[in-house]
Amino acid sequence: MRAKIAALLLLFLLSLGLTGCIRQQPPVFRIGVALYSQEDTFISTVGQKMERLAKEEEQKRGIKINVTLVDGDRSQSVQNEQVDRFLNQGYDIICVNIVDRTAAAVIVDKAQRANVPVLFFNREPVEEDLDRWESAYYVGADGAQAGRMQGQLVLDAWHERQEILDRNGDGILQYVMLEGEPGHQDTLLRTEYSIKTLQEAGVPLDRLGSSTADWQRGKARLKMEQWLKETDTTIEAVFANNDDMALGVIDACLKSGMQPQDLPLVVGVDATEEAVQAVRDGHMAGTVRNDAEGEAAWMIQVACTLMESKPLEEVVELVDDHYIWLEYSLVDQAAAIAEEQAP
Ligand code: GAL
Ligand code: CA
Repeated sequence: MRAKIAALLLLFLLSLGLTGCIRQQPPVFRIGVALYSQEDTFISTVGQKMERLAKEEEQKRGIKINVTLVDGDRSQSVQNEQVDRFLNQGYDIICVNIVDRTAAAVIVDKAQRANVPVLFFNREPVEEDLDRWESAYYVGADGAQAGRMQGQLVLDAWHERQEILDRNGDGILQYVMLEGEPGHQDTLLRTEYSIKTLQEAGVPLDRLGSSTADWQRGKARLKMEQWLKETDTTIEAVFANNDDMALGVIDACLKSGMQPQDLPLVVGVDATEEAVQAVRDGHMAGTVRNDAEGEAAWMIQVACTLMESKPLEEVVELVDDHYIWLEYSLVDQAAAIAEEQAP
């Protein structure tokens, strides 16, 4: 009998302790992250970084953050359903890497109805759509800047070693352009400004080919294989709107039997691990860092600030009430090597 009472007492005390604990549990916040495609190298990196940074922020703020990543599989209707689910399940913030960047109005309106702030990133919605609601934001970088940096890299090479770059010695730079998805702001801007930079510097250019490869390595490889077969003139330079496509180009060249020293001058954007290694190896002339870390960090910062109902102005000065802009930076061979040696 005594033992029974003691056991009951223990149970009672334990349950008191437990409920006490529950009351002291930190608040739990939920961030729903909708990615246009988890197969995309740069985007999946941003997603992973968000998960890691949320963990760090939990410690700092004494809160619990659940980050849920979902894959839109390149379909806007799939993504809309995912957003609906986040909103129905009472998520605190949604981060949307929108599939079709002209389709943001629907998502902004839904988020507003549910009063859940929405942070778009990397795929920039049209401005009028962001203007529909004060709690709609965009975190990203200006593709024109990346384009100019690519152009500058090629321009410097042209000035420093034209005799090597201009393989057929005609004083004209023969190039091909591999573009990202049609209509993506980074496709349009990187393509335009890379070439403009060379044109403005007076470099005579001859475009031998231009094609979309949807940011994908495999598609870029196939396209390059075709150009290598079909084009009589030597391709002296390759502009790729991102690194995966630049790597696809190099795959094609090496597979065709070309020696590394005979590769055209190839430039990309993103500074993925593999591309930075290719720059170190001298297979790529350079790349432009697309700040995945910064993008993820800003989203987590903004999300936490809003979830804790703190004023956003304390952490960031928004441009035109909605925008947080990140800077690109150039990664040439010296930078790529220095990066590896840095602690
Ligand atoms: C670009 C990036 C590409 C691809 C694309 C997806 O900024 O350079 O590699 O990730 O975004 O929207
Ligand atoms: Ca030439």
